Amino acid sequence: MRREKIAAVLASEKIGAKTTVMGWIKTKRESKGGFSFIELNDGSCLGNLQIIADKGLPNYREEILRLQTGCSICISGTLVASPGKKQKVELRAEKIKVIGWADPARYPLQKKRHSFEFLRTIAHLRPRTNTFGAVARVRNAMSFAVHAFFQERGFIYVHTPIITGSDCEGAGETFKVTAFDLESVPKKEGHVDFEKDFFGQPANLTVSGQLEAEAYALSMGDVYTFGPTFRAENSNTPRHLAEFWMIEPEMAFCDLDGAIELAEEFLKYIFRYVLENCKEDMQFFTRFIDPGAIKNLEKLVSSHFERITYTEAVKILSKMNEAFEFPVQWGSDIQAEHERYLCEKVFRGPVVVTDYPKQIKPFYMKLNEDGKTVKAMDVLVPKIGEIIGGSQREDDHDTLYNRMKETNISPEDYWWYLELREFGSAPHSGFGLGFERLIQYVTGLSNIRDVIPFPRTPGNVNF
Ligand code: 4AD
Ligand code: MG
Repeated sequence: MRREKIAAVLASEKIGAKTTVMGWIKTKRESKGGFSFIELNDGSCLGNLQIIADKGLPNYREEILRLQTGCSICISGTLVASPGKKQKVELRAEKIKVIGWADPARYPLQKKRHSFEFLRTIAHLRPRTNTFGAVARVRNAMSFAVHAFFQERGFIYVHTPIITGSDCEGAGETFKVTAFDLESVPKKEGHVDFEKDFFGQPANLTVSGQLEAEAYALSMGDVYTFGPTFRAENSNTPRHLAEFWMIEPEMAFCDLDGAIELAEEFLKYIFRYVLENCKEDMQFFTRFIDPGAIKNLEKLVSSHFERITYTEAVKILSKMNEAFEFPVQWGSDIQAEHERYLCEKVFRGPVVVTDYPKQIKPFYMKLNEDGKTVKAMDVLVPKIGEIIGGSQREDDHDTLYNRMKETNISPEDYWWYLELREFGSAPHSGFGLGFERLIQYVTGLSNIRDVIPFPRTPGNVNF
């Protein structure tokens, strides 16, 4: 069975051509003269192909009349000019084969619109809706653009491990990996005896591929990872997932400024790619999700990213007389509300905040000469807040060793990471971009659970 994709059929506009398409029925209606009109979608594009089936078809009475939303069918026929405004061509069916029925009493996607909350309970079927189909296509295009951006610049794609013995961010928010029978975990002197476990030591799912990416950057020059990362932080917010995808470039012989420049170039490249290649889906998001969706991207592509230090950000925020939930104070973390305030109210666009106090950032960031701040950078964007976090890395062995001691990280466990600072150490920098937050920014969807196919959040691993 050869089929043509509906995206190709609609784009070709070949009146008079024969074709075969397959897909799922979006809607169907009967007209008086013995015709059925079927709107068919196969996921290849947002648009449906209109099928005209007339009573002359041999299975018209027994099957075509019984077809409903959700059924899968195969149609062979001839493309004709469409009298409707929505599309230029439609397909006059010469043969329709029913592939799969969908009982209307049980198929849940009957209404025109469903709430996102409801659709999350049917994550296996929600890609049949316009919104989730569009998200899937845009996510696909953005993944491709990520690779295109780095490949065009000679970066090497590195597959960093999913299972590790380290906790890159040092926050202790890891999911444990074990082969123990949890009902009878071996103990030694009252503690879990990890020597008896699969790896002979504690292991967890990675929170970031950065540490291993650094090893490859210090051999290959410019590298990047793009893979799933896992965090067991109990954050039930519209911008946190327990499993999310992260893009992490790492560059040797590169300082913090170099990383910021790459981040700005990277974001603009992705947005430009989406504007050029996902026009139909972006128009859909603009119409139904966020009226500013396309304009926001166009504005960002031609904008300049403001740069301020953390100390300046704290000064600006404390002058603002704004009733924040969390007080602004030098030394404490900038919260999402502060990040959004800076982007939305103060700068009205993306902002890069640099040089944070060392006590609120991980051990690996390069210490500034003041001994108090580190060469860190966060890229903040309107509506989302932090979308990128990165830094120049500490490349001096002794300073790094001392930072580990200060932050209760065992230098013995990270011996290989320290060795990279003994053998041909070099300044290097990188960052991590949360892929789902980027998709939220592009599509305007306000909940991160709606931009990943099967979201994992506290209490939810159903599918
Ligand atoms: O700021 P983070 O924690 O930085 C790192 O993991 C570094 N090791 C990256 C690096 O320098 N190579 O995370 C980076 C980004 C954040 O800015 C955010 O966009 C996203 O990852 N992120 C999350 N996205 C969804 N759900 C979560 N729970 C996230 N935590 C972080
Ligand atoms: Mg961060």
